[in-house]
Amino acid sequence: MIKIAPSMLSADFSNLRDEIKSIELAGADLLHIDVMDGHFVPNLTFGAPIVKAIRPHTNLPFDVHLMVTNPGDYVEEYAKIGVEYFTFHQETVPHIHRLIQHIKSLGMKAGVALNPSTPVSILEDVAADVDMILIMSVNPGFGGQSFIPRAIEKVKQAKSLLDAAGNMTAVIEVDGGINDITCIPIKEAGATVLVAGSAVFGAPNRADMIESIRNN
Ligand code: DX5
Ligand code: ZN
Repeated sequence: MIKIAPSMLSADFSNLRDEIKSIELAGADLLHIDVMDGHFVPNLTFGAPIVKAIRPHTNLPFDVHLMVTNPGDYVEEYAKIGVEYFTFHQETVPHIHRLIQHIKSLGMKAGVALNPSTPVSILEDVAADVDMILIMSVNPGFGGQSFIPRAIEKVKQAKSLLDAAGNMTAVIEVDGGINDITCIPIKEAGATVLVAGSAVFGAPNRADMIESIRNN
């Protein structure tokens, strides 16, 4: 079953409540929330206070993607807000195993994101522990960039890694440049959660676009 996680980064920030309702009604499975700090990535979005403010306005599970240099500082805060996935970047943390355990101990699912230049093999020793591997198919920081095809091979590698670790419950998510065409090889490779920002929020009919990404 493929899940679609529209990225709030492409929403109208002056009207978040209606934008989130709109994609919920359009059939989204998760709300992908891009937290950027202006340090790890060259862009700054919003943090926990905004995420907390929108939490009561939708039933969608929150898929929080932290592009920040010190994600471990925010685990308790996001756990209190109520988020499904707390995903941090491998490149930001020396003690990945410890952070994964901390996230899970507070009732969230732990995701680890990999930049386009980071090899999947770096996660070998935590493959049994993760709830999500997030393969970036653009360099993080901005919506509306072009899909990097190398991500297809990395999804296959992530699937092998999880299989070899006997981890049957973790999901593989892909983020960046996903539309109704680039979704096809990514799903074939084994990804089951697809993030789509500009493709969904910029579509004339958001429900049709979500269905196309799911079913194409
Ligand atoms: C990029 C973000 C993505 C972004 C995707 O740093 O992590 O979630 O919003 O946007 P699109 O789908 O437009 O590439
Ligand atoms: Zn993202």
